[in-house]
Amino acid sequence: MMKYNFDEVVSRIGTNSAKWDGMVESMGNDMISLSVADMDLKAPPIVVEKLEMAARHGIYGYTDTFSSYFSAVQAWLGRSYHWHVPQEWIVFCPRIIQAVSLVIQQFTNEGDAILIHTPVYQPVAKAVTLNNRVLIESPLQFHHGRYEIDFEDMEQRMQQGVKIVLLISPHNPVGRVWTKTELERIGALCIKYDALIVSDDIHADFIHEGHEHTVIAKLSEEIAQRSVICTSPGKTFNLASLEIANIIIPNETIRERFKQGLQQAGIHNPTFFAVPALEWSYTACDDWLEELREYLTGNIAYASAFIHEHMPELSVIKPEGTYLLWVDCRAVDTAESGLKQWIEQTARVSASFGSSFGADGEGFIRINIAAPRSVLKEALERIAAAYPLKKT
Ligand SMILES: Cc1ncc(COP(=O)(O)O)c(C=O)c1O
Repeated sequence: MMKYNFDEVVSRIGTNSAKWDGMVESMGNDMISLSVADMDLKAPPIVVEKLEMAARHGIYGYTDTFSSYFSAVQAWLGRSYHWHVPQEWIVFCPRIIQAVSLVIQQFTNEGDAILIHTPVYQPVAKAVTLNNRVLIESPLQFHHGRYEIDFEDMEQRMQQGVKIVLLISPHNPVGRVWTKTELERIGALCIKYDALIVSDDIHADFIHEGHEHTVIAKLSEEIAQRSVICTSPGKTFNLASLEIANIIIPNETIRERFKQGLQQAGIHNPTFFAVPALEWSYTACDDWLEELREYLTGNIAYASAFIHEHMPELSVIKPEGTYLLWVDCRAVDTAESGLKQWIEQTARVSASFGSSFGADGEGFIRINIAAPRSVLKEALERIAAAYPLKKT
């Protein structure tokens, strides 16, 4: 018996939701959204309760990060990833994308090369080009239904003077949880070519059975000294809009320069709700998270089986982590316009289409399964009903 009710359907329309209100405005209110990577599930009840209390306090003046914030983050990193870090390594930054952009600004110059593995969540890649740096894409290899890093390709590209490797760990959208061996090889290349590692671990709390998340900075002191690890409760507890991320920087010089970047950008304290949300999530919600993981695992199994049964020409890339399903739809159409016609126009479902993860994502879609099962079911049934290869 579950203690928490993840089946509850809560409308987000009218809450300025990027995922729902954005869709309603551009495509109409008869659509179901499985797009933007947040959850259509409420945050843990204790967090909601504490935020209600905080709201009722009524004075929303300036806040800061104090020792309880740092202790909560330290305990979380220890419990979740067996990573024991001193308090001073932890730097508050509202959002991970800001942190990535700041590292790029602080540690590279315009025109410098920065590497990422594609297809990939574009805001991280865009942080490179928006800062007038050169994005070096190392395409992941798709072998027997699984994505792998092409280390030969990566090394060749590193030789172009790459200054930073942006690692998405686990990877969005392909759902890979990088193994220790893969991370060791990435670390070795970064040492060999003297590149900084920025590891975006925002999805690290959703790791599926048989896989294990390794924080790359844990592998060796040498790797730690060139790593910036970006963590956040945003995905895990559905707090994205509260804007709180924890950037862990073992090297003091890098850390001080990063902090200077924060100051230059005028970023210096969290919003009123951010710290309590993080503290309660990180300290009092382990049972909630355990049940959530179980629920999401059920959704992944449900969606994969449904697609296999009703749309057998599609191929679901088995996710090792994240609540995102990357689905190969090339059997239906290699052109995105055809997939959009089917899924958006006919089925009235909003998904994330592959080209929004870079050119090598075309022909794929990303489905966010972090929704009540009934919503997921209805969306999939609509997609299946409009399936162009349906046998009549
Ligand atoms: C890999 C990855 N990094 C970062 C983010 C966004 O993080 P933030 O809102 O803290 O900038 C997302 C959100 O989808 C993501 O998938």
